[in-house]
Amino acid sequence: MDTKALALQEKDYIIGLRRWFHAHPELGGEEVRTTARIAEELRAAGVEAETFPDITGCVGTLRGARPGKTVMLRADIDALPIQEADTSKPYASQNPGVMHACGHDCHTAMLLGAAKLLAAHRDEIAGTVKFLFQMAEEIGTESRHYVEKGCLAGVDAIYGQHVWSLLPAGTYNLEDGPRMASSDRFTIRIHGQAAHGSAPHQGHDAVLAAAAVVMALQTLVSRVNDPQNTFVLTTGVMNGGTRDNIVAAEAELIGTTRAFDKAFRKTIPDLIRRTAEAAAEAYGCTAECTYFFGPAPLINEHRDLNEIARRAAEDILGPGALVPMERQMGAEDFSVYMDAAPGLYGFLGCRNEAKGAASPHHADTFDVDEDVLPLGAAIYARFALDFLNAK
Ligand code: NI
Repeated sequence: MDTKALALQEKDYIIGLRRWFHAHPELGGEEVRTTARIAEELRAAGVEAETFPDITGCVGTLRGARPGKTVMLRADIDALPIQEADTSKPYASQNPGVMHACGHDCHTAMLLGAAKLLAAHRDEIAGTVKFLFQMAEEIGTESRHYVEKGCLAGVDAIYGQHVWSLLPAGTYNLEDGPRMASSDRFTIRIHGQAAHGSAPHQGHDAVLAAAAVVMALQTLVSRVNDPQNTFVLTTGVMNGGTRDNIVAAEAELIGTTRAFDKAFRKTIPDLIRRTAEAAAEAYGCTAECTYFFGPAPLINEHRDLNEIARRAAEDILGPGALVPMERQMGAEDFSVYMDAAPGLYGFLGCRNEAKGAASPHHADTFDVDEDVLPLGAAIYARFALDFLNAK
């Protein structure tokens, strides 16, 4: 089956869907209409569609004519709390304050396109293709629901891809190794003792201790961490105190960490706790630390699978389409699936200045070169077929 030719025949269908999803964006966890439309399109194509009573999103299942392995293709479906800047576009968001500013409308449309063309040729398929339309990717922790529901049971490989505004339309990137960072959150409560601001010696200043903790935490990056190891620690929130003339009894710090190394990442909570407790103690305060593990680093660990995707993308996009790209410090909860099944993740260039698609992801002017969408659908389909046919 020539997935590229078939996908190009479905170009209007795919772009039409992308525009419908773009015009009707829904926030993570609230993708009710989006899910209904996905299930409707899958069923119309002859693909079984499973929805869930407690969460949004949908899983499609297409059984080929012959038995074989199971491959899963994943798209995320949620939008962002952003007001679209240009409301004059015919497909502009009709939901004020909500916008598909990351391209998940494109992912949904590409995967529906792939499902439609694969379903029309199920007699040529040996094995099962599953289509995972995941809710709430932007929240960062919700992909686990589909794993907990058993959706990945029996899946031999899972493939995901993101349209990427840093890459020109028609190019593709899928490299071995770490591609996106972990994204974890720490909270530190500093407990001191209140006193009048004119008599600081009678209290223990939690605001001063919090300032010391913020400074000390940066030394984890500069002094404790191996300079060869990428590590980001950002304290984004600092709250404390009640009045201008009262020594603060309480303060709170909230921050994020990013890393690519799984073993190192596991040590971060302890490093933060040790440092925060010692820095706070110097000021007569105590520090109470909590650490929340978000998405793990996204690592393309399976060279054989990576090769299948790269060959598929190069065949569809043409020679020279594979381009290098620095790994990204952003996170992607696709990494949760990679713990449940062998997984891989690629980036499909969608930037085209001439068509007004040059804004970064999450900008209120974000848009894509829609001509890449049928090609992305073809890559999804082609990966699935080549994986199922691989010895
Ligand atoms: Ni995204």
